[in-house]
Formats: sequence, C-alpha cells, structure tokens
Amino acid sequence: MVAKAEIHCHIEGAAGPALVRTQAEKYGADISVIIRDDAYVWSDFTTFLQCYDIASRLFRSQEDYALLAETYLRDLAAQGAIYSEFFISTDHAISAGLTPEAYVDGLAEGMLRARAATGIEARMIATGLRHEGPQGVERAARWIADHPHPLVTGFGMAGDERMHEPKDFARAFDIARDAGLAITVHAGELCGADSVRGALDHLRPSRIGHGVRAIEDPALVERLARDEIVLEVCPGSNIALGVFASYDAHPLPRLRDAGVRVTLSSDDPPFFHTSLAQEYETARRHFGMDDAALLDMTRTSIEAAFVDEETRDTLLARLG
Ligand code: ADE
Ligand code: ZN
Repeated sequence: MVAKAEIHCHIEGAAGPALVRTQAEKYGADISVIIRDDAYVWSDFTTFLQCYDIASRLFRSQEDYALLAETYLRDLAAQGAIYSEFFISTDHAISAGLTPEAYVDGLAEGMLRARAATGIEARMIATGLRHEGPQGVERAARWIADHPHPLVTGFGMAGDERMHEPKDFARAFDIARDAGLAITVHAGELCGADSVRGALDHLRPSRIGHGVRAIEDPALVERLARDEIVLEVCPGSNIALGVFASYDAHPLPRLRDAGVRVTLSSDDPPFFHTSLAQEYETARRHFGMDDAALLDMTRTSIEAAFVDEETRDTLLARLG
C-alpha cells in the first residue's frame, strides 16, 4: 500500500452520517433534513455549507470533539495515512456552544489517542470563515494568536470564496503570520484565476487550498510552479461540487505536467462520498499515476506540512 498523507480536511466535514446520527441521539436532535438513507442531503455549495453547519452543531463538548478527531484519524491511518493536517474552526465551536479552548483541547486529546493507537501524526490549521467577513476572520486569527497550542501550526480561510476580496483579509493573515503560524488559503475553487492571484498577492500563503482553477491562466500556472506554491488538490470534492464536470476535465495532470507541486486530500470526505484512499485510487485510475507518482504526492504533502523539521524528517524517513 502506498503511504498516504493529507493536508486539507475540515474536521467538521470529516464527521460521517453514522457518527452524526449517534450525536443526534445523544442530544435528542432531529437530523432528517440533513441525512437521508445514511447520506448527507445537499445540492450545491450553499446547501452543502448549510448541511455541514447543521451537522457540526451536534458536536457540543470537549469529548465530542475528541471522539471526532480520534475517529477520523484512526480511519485515515487504516487507509495507509501517516500524516494528517486538518482545518479547525473556532466559529463552529462557538456556534455549538463550546468554548474555543475546550474545542482545541478536545481535538488535541483525540489526536493523541489516535497517535497512541496507530502512530498517525497530525496537526491542526485554525481557520476563519470567509463569509463571516474580514472582522470575523480577524477575530479567529486573533484568538489563535492569543492562545498558541503546539498542535495548531497553521492558519487558513475556508468558506464562500464568492464573497469579499482577498485584500480584505490581509490584516487577519498578518496577525496569524506574526504569531508564527504557517499560511494556506482556499482559492481557485468556486472562483477563477483572479481569486488565486489575489490570495497570493495579499495573503502570501505557502499553499493554496484547491487552487485548481489557476489552470484558466497559463501565466498564473507558471507563477505557481516558479514560486513552488503547493496546491491542496481535492478531486472528489471538485467533482461533487461541480467545479469540473468530469475527471477527464480535471486539471491535476496538467498542473503537475506544468511543474506545479500538487498533493491529494479529501476535503469533507463523507459529504463528497470519498476518502483519502479513494482520492489516491482516482489519481491512479483517472490521472494515470503509478505508485511512484502517488508516493511523490505524499512526499510533497510532507515537505509542505506545517511541522517542525525534526517531525518532517521522521515522516519523510517513513516513506522510505
Ligand atoms: N468548508 C468546508 N469545505 C469547504 C470547501 N470545499 N470550500 C470552502 N470552504 C469549505
Ligand atoms: Zn476545503
């Protein structure tokens, strides 16, 4: 089995329907609007986010989040992953009535339990939500800057890319960068090349979440390759959300051929009927990548991971 790693997964988006059903029973909540026939119900990006938000509100305690992180990471390790970096959202914790402190501590507890059981290494990336606006993202950045945690090593922004401009978030990203956090940002998923260019210019990330619509501008593709910006590519998510009509139309092979550093991740796996193992299988089947090419993407993920150099060396050594 090819060793795997992912650097783009939202922890709330990693909660499968079975776990959410258990949580709903625990809290006596009705989930019939978001889960039918053991699958999430949504039809476009907006309703996906609504469905995701409703499911996330069923994680209300420190232990709920410990269980979520442990469940996700144990499952990922069983798929052959040695490393995961996942997005956290203090806004979601607050919406569920949980303090950000309890949220981060719970997730960290789950990470330690999963590592003890499987050896999987993991880190968290704090995020702000773009649709909450610049002040909301700044609030998220300030909180994490004021509450450093050894397992929270990055800052990013998720949410609705169609809202606001990258430059509106420059201050939030400066706060995070000044706190020593590494930077990634979602761009080039729902919007095109301009969005990616704006993110690079104003937010200065080392990685871009998705970034795949950079393919619409050859000069931008060249810039990504030259500046060694790593793309967190999530093909199954892109197909599920209709960013591309088919795997044949997906640009991962063209980006890779152009010298862009690409990696594979699952984004919100149960929402998009995927898993990290399935993403690797997709790359094999639809993009013609062999074991060496797949391992190369795992290596790129580790090289771009938001970890200290000793941890990076240990992880790279595990790839052989
Ligand atoms: N939050 C969770 N999944 C997301 C995605 N694919 N794009 C933007 N924000 C998200
Ligand atoms: Zn994402």
